Amino acid sequence: MPITQAILPVAGLGTRFLPWTKSVAKEMLPIGNQPIIAKIVDECMDAGIKDICFVISHGKEMIPTYFYESPELEAELKKRGKTEQLEHLLKYNEADFHVVYQEDQLGDGHAILQAADWINSEHVAVLFGDDIFSGEHSGIAQLMAAHDALTSDDQGAILALEKLEDSQISQKGIVEVGSIHATIERLQSIKSLVEKPNLEDAPSNLGIVGRYIVPRSTIDLLPSVGASHGGEIRLIDALIEQLGSIPIHGLECTGIRLDTGTPEGYARAVQVLTADL
Ligand code: UTP
Repeated sequence: MPITQAILPVAGLGTRFLPWTKSVAKEMLPIGNQPIIAKIVDECMDAGIKDICFVISHGKEMIPTYFYESPELEAELKKRGKTEQLEHLLKYNEADFHVVYQEDQLGDGHAILQAADWINSEHVAVLFGDDIFSGEHSGIAQLMAAHDALTSDDQGAILALEKLEDSQISQKGIVEVGSIHATIERLQSIKSLVEKPNLEDAPSNLGIVGRYIVPRSTIDLLPSVGASHGGEIRLIDALIEQLGSIPIHGLECTGIRLDTGTPEGYARAVQVLTADL
C-alpha cells in the first residue's frame, strides 16, 4: 500500500535555541520566505502525502495555524490581484492537517505515540523537524520509492541514512548494515542500531537522519519500550526491539541534508538554501 499519512513531531522544547524558543517555535524560523516547517510539509505534499499530523506542545499552535485555510485573507488577496501570494496559501488547502498534543516532552517516540489513534494505514511516514533535504529527490520521496519497490512481505521499516563525520556520531542513531538489496539501489538490511554511541563504540559511520517509514506495529510497541533512557520513549528503541522480527532497512539517501536543530546548523541551512534568492 502507498504511504498516505505522515507524523511530524514538533513538540520539543528547542533548548538549543533558547531564549528564542521561549516565544517562537524553532520550526517557525525562516529560511528565505518560508519557515522550516513549511519545507517539511512541502516535502510530504510533493511526495504525495496529504494527510499530516503535527504533534505539538502548548504554545506551538502557530505551527498548524500557518497551514490552515484563511478564507478572509484569500478573498482579500484575490480582490487585490495578489495571485502569487494567494497560490502559496491555496497549496495547503489540498492537505488535511491534524493536531495532537504532547503534554510532557518525554522523547520523540512518546511524541509519535500521541498520534497513534489518528493512524489508519499499515505504514506511516515520520519526519523530524530538524532535518531538511535539498536535492532532486527529498528524503521521504526516496524512502517511499524504496517502500513501493519492496514486496509487501519485505516492507517493514525503512530509515534514511547518511555517512556522518566523526564529530556527529555521538549525536545520532547509528546503524550496522547487513546485506545489500538485490534490486533496490542503496537499500541495505539493518543488523543493529545504537543511539548516540561514543565514536569508538559506533558500528559504522552511517547515521539515521530524520526520515522514517514505520509499520503500525512499531507505534504499538512504543508504550512498552519506555523509560530506558532518563524516562524518554524513543522511536529507535522500538525499532531495536523489532530487529529480527520485522524487516528493517536503511536507505542511504542522495542529496544534501541540512540539520537546522542547532544555531550553527540553521545558519548553514539559510546560507545554502537562500544562495539563489
Ligand atoms: P530534538 O532532540 O532536537 O529536541 O528533537 P528539541 O527539544 O527539538 O531540541 P533541543 O535538543 O532541546 O535543542 C528532535 C525532534 O523530535 C521532536 C522535536 O520537536 C524535534 O522535531 N520531539 C523531541 C518531540 O516532538 N517531543 C519530544 O519529547 C522530543
